[in-house]
Amino acid sequence: MGKDIKHIGVLCSGGDAPGMNAAIRAVVRTGAHFDLHVHGVYRGYDGLIDGEVQRVESRDVANIMHKGGTVLKTARSARFRTKEGRKSAYETIMAHDLDAIVAIGGNGTFTGAKIFEKEFGIPMMGVPGTIDNDLYGTDFTIGFDTAINTAVEAIDRIRDTADSHNRLFFIEVMGRHNGSIALYAGIGGGAGGILIPERATDVDELMAVLQKMVKRKKLFGLIVVAEGNENGSCQEVADMVKKNLIEYEVKVAVIGHLQRGGAPTALDRVLAARMGHGAVKGLLEGHSNVMCGVHNNLVVYTPLEDAINKKKKIDKDLMEMAEILAI
Ligand code: F6P
Repeated sequence: MGKDIKHIGVLCSGGDAPGMNAAIRAVVRTGAHFDLHVHGVYRGYDGLIDGEVQRVESRDVANIMHKGGTVLKTARSARFRTKEGRKSAYETIMAHDLDAIVAIGGNGTFTGAKIFEKEFGIPMMGVPGTIDNDLYGTDFTIGFDTAINTAVEAIDRIRDTADSHNRLFFIEVMGRHNGSIALYAGIGGGAGGILIPERATDVDELMAVLQKMVKRKKLFGLIVVAEGNENGSCQEVADMVKKNLIEYEVKVAVIGHLQRGGAPTALDRVLAARMGHGAVKGLLEGHSNVMCGVHNNLVVYTPLEDAINKKKKIDKDLMEMAEILAI
């Protein structure tokens, strides 16, 4: 056990994700189990800069694991990107005697954590909390399962109205530069096509798929488009199709931030519990500057550098299967 860690801080940063509360609860209760003092940092790195730190005990995190969002609140901190901001954050850490920080978030959060650890030597432990599922070193990120369930529910509803009116819908889902949400929501929602940034949209191929649908007298269609789709946004692709395919009435639906809210699914709660617990255990075992993920059903620690910079590959087999099933 790392002997120096007695006081830890926990914060959420970047976009919120359902399941963050379950992770916070796990950090606080695992910390209590090992006789650590756990402090909640509000509003992410901004709160660390501004000294918004409060001791949190086991009872304080009762009744939160089923709630969406984060009780600690979150922020995308511009100030933490500056040396001056990070120095103020370090001063807060010193003032509260914190020995390590558990940072729950995504890419931006871990980038900040990595720089901070290097500059000030404070052990940083990342927990992957983002709906995007774009981090290397973990099979899934906290919030992804809830987000795809929300997206599938939305797609099901759009299917009803698309079917009733014989319309072709282009449905935009989140995911920033990653197509995981689109791929899983597309398969789960039975989409006729899935457009993701990892696979450049071939316009001719898309048109061929749609022409086939017309030939088969398929009267309505659902195409799921990742917001980061490289060959045009959902709206742009829909406009292009509208011009070239008169058989369908084309509509666009953007699911947007609905995907970020709501009660976390059981899978997200369990994942978050494992990662929050693993984060504290990892710090006590001497891990730092790493992300605590779950890979092949095992808790693993991946250097923050790799979690951010190594490309998480999209599952090609899933993509191929999706195309076969869409026919
Ligand atoms: O990273 C999570 C995410 O929801 C992305 O999918 C999306 O691109 C982005 O955050 C939206 O950010 P904001 O809520 O700041 O508009």
